[in-house]
Amino acid sequence: MQQKGLITFDQFIASEQNKFPNVQGNLSRLFRHIQLASKLVNSDVRKAGLAGILGSAQNTNVQGEDQQKLDVLANNTFIKMIESSKTCAAILSEEVDEVYYCENNPKGKYIVAMDPLDGSSNIDVNASIGTIFSIYKRIDLDQPVSDADIYQKGREIVAGGYIIYGSSTMLVFSTGNGVNGFTLDSGIQEYCLSHPNMQMPAKEGIYSVNEGNMGTFPESVKRYIAKCKGETGEKPKSARYIGSLIADFHRNLIKGGIFMYPSTQSAPNGKLRLLYECVPMAFVAEQAGGKAHTGDIDVLDIVPNELHQRVPLYIGNKSMVEDLLQS
Ligand code: AHG
Ligand code: MN
Ligand code: MN
Repeated sequence: MQQKGLITFDQFIASEQNKFPNVQGNLSRLFRHIQLASKLVNSDVRKAGLAGILGSAQNTNVQGEDQQKLDVLANNTFIKMIESSKTCAAILSEEVDEVYYCENNPKGKYIVAMDPLDGSSNIDVNASIGTIFSIYKRIDLDQPVSDADIYQKGREIVAGGYIIYGSSTMLVFSTGNGVNGFTLDSGIQEYCLSHPNMQMPAKEGIYSVNEGNMGTFPESVKRYIAKCKGETGEKPKSARYIGSLIADFHRNLIKGGIFMYPSTQSAPNGKLRLLYECVPMAFVAEQAGGKAHTGDIDVLDIVPNELHQRVPLYIGNKSMVEDLLQS
């Protein structure tokens, strides 16, 4: 990696914090702990086969999904590191049925929602997986954590992003001032700014969807997919689908494209979870000039009503999402 002008994630966060001289540095500390947790998980991911941590943990989560060993490991690591930052009062995780209260810091300023390991079905086959996170500020620090703190609209998010454990490991995030991507330099174990101010390319690109479920997609989505395939006279688009939201989204963020997870017969509200999958990715997408919609409403405008609530997701290039909505 080029040394000249190298900016590490820590330096980036510190310089952002310096712009606000009166802040206490809680958010920066939380970022540092999330960053450290991701390095620990990255290390586990990189040696999973050797350390015997591939495969199922012989358990299911609240959503009835088989938990993989790495799901459990990543969940424990992130919870431990976030809790030890002493900045959060509660954590919401895909792998934890109820709200996890940080007993060491009940007056903590922040709440984190996370999918500790996204794309778990790809763990055993060595394809890209990741971690998704979002950070909210609590409404009233003098009161115990309440539904009002937990069920905040995506628009209220303070920061959101993801770590992708791919052919390289990247941390991509936004605090509402654009999107920046940092690549983990494995030699020095530092995230270094490699993708400043990421923007979704204006050019329409790839479409990503699990077409095996096409039979029970909404008719409008079927019409849009037919268009993507060139069945209505347009130039066909390329299809790419890994089955790992982070990896599919990340590719489309760089190359241009739309990711779709519509409602299906077996998943009438779609499959992806609002609080810790759809909202953080929607925030990154919007900050990069893209769009994220459910078919009814912008993802960031939904007022959540359940911890593990699911919604359909159409996310990516603004023009592609708008084209789908008009199909
Ligand atoms: P998770 O591994 O956190 O449960 O998420 C899996 C999700 C998401 O990453 C991906 O986009 C989707 O499942 C793929 O679903 P299908 O296998 O139904 O296509
Ligand atoms: Mn997931
Ligand atoms: Mn997961």
